Amino acid sequence: MLTYPAILILVVLTDLHGVRTADWAYWGENGPDKWPGLCQTGKKQSPINIISESAIKKDLGDLKFIRYDYAFLGKVINNGHTIQVQLSNTLPIQLESQYLSSKYNLEQFHFHWGSEHTIDKYRYPLEMHLVHYDEQYGNVTAASQHENGVAVVATFFELSDKDNQAMDPILKAAKQVSAWVGSSSTSLRDKVIPHLLLPKDRTTYYTYEGSLTTPKCQESVTWFVMSETVAISEAQLKIFHNVSSPDGILSFNYRPIQAIGDREVFHHLSGYSSSRSNFSVHIYLALLCTFLIRLS
Ligand SMILES: *[C@@H]1O[C@H](CO)[C@@H](O)[C@H](O)[C@H]1NC(C)=O
Ligand SMILES: *[C@@H]1O[C@H](CO)[C@@H](O)[C@H](O)[C@H]1NC(C)=O
Ligand SMILES: *[C@@H]1O[C@H](CO)[C@@H](O)[C@H](O)[C@H]1NC(C)=O
Ligand SMILES: [Zn+2]
Repeated sequence: MLTYPAILILVVLTDLHGVRTADWAYWGENGPDKWPGLCQTGKKQSPINIISESAIKKDLGDLKFIRYDYAFLGKVINNGHTIQVQLSNTLPIQLESQYLSSKYNLEQFHFHWGSEHTIDKYRYPLEMHLVHYDEQYGNVTAASQHENGVAVVATFFELSDKDNQAMDPILKAAKQVSAWVGSSSTSLRDKVIPHLLLPKDRTTYYTYEGSLTTPKCQESVTWFVMSETVAISEAQLKIFHNVSSPDGILSFNYRPIQAIGDREVFHHLSGYSSSRSNFSVHIYLALLCTFLIRLS
């Protein structure tokens, strides 16, 4: 395979990009119960189990995905914890929401096999995280030190009989880096259109305040968990299940469910208006009228 050296750009074995560190893992001696700092002591940790019945229904405004419909090249990295994609874009790819005051730039996206979030205890086979940072902080490292500095859009995948063709460029590259643990990246050979990796219906999502799901588990993340799913075939999913890590094949890479504590989870439904809140407004007006009549 003479073409391999040309395709693979080996990143020097270094800690600079945080890719070489085997200091934490999803199981064993360095497993989640040994992760440091906030990962153990935090009160707003992720992922969580979302109880659909308990989520507060509200119209929070639709998410705006800016330049998500452009086609990008980029690189795919096996960092020993996940397969991560970094697109090459000159203009920022952005997330906007009425709920967030700033614009958030897409930094990278990556995958967890076995979803990290669960819905009513159901774990999907795959979850994608699109990691954005508040543009006012300049980069994701700086942004992760600030409350709401990071916004992650999570999308679940469900098994289908058909391949998801939008995933093909990423999966081709993932195959090439799967054995090159912690030390490799390869270029995408076909362009990726981020829009096509999102559910077709983007009008409903869950949102809550949480953390990064890997050390140092900074509590700076506004999560947007899309309710609709995307398809992936069994054969495509297998490529993720074959990725190598310092601890052998990365058979799963999800963090256990964290306590929700006193946090609220909102369920954004476009155009939703609560009849109950209308009802209480009516009662309030009725009481006010009675009071005013008595006064007069
Ligand atoms: C991120 O931004 C901070 C603050 O502006 C800066 O000090 C730091 O060097 C930047 N880090 C990277 C990796 O660019
Ligand atoms: C799994 O990865 C190995 C290299 O690490 C490769 O030889 C093998 O073909 C892969 N299997 C599948 C099903 O992709
Ligand atoms: C209250 O109900 C009316 C229709 O009776 C509806 O148009 C309005 O949006 C509702 N308002 C709220 C706050 O739910
Ligand atoms: Zn993630």
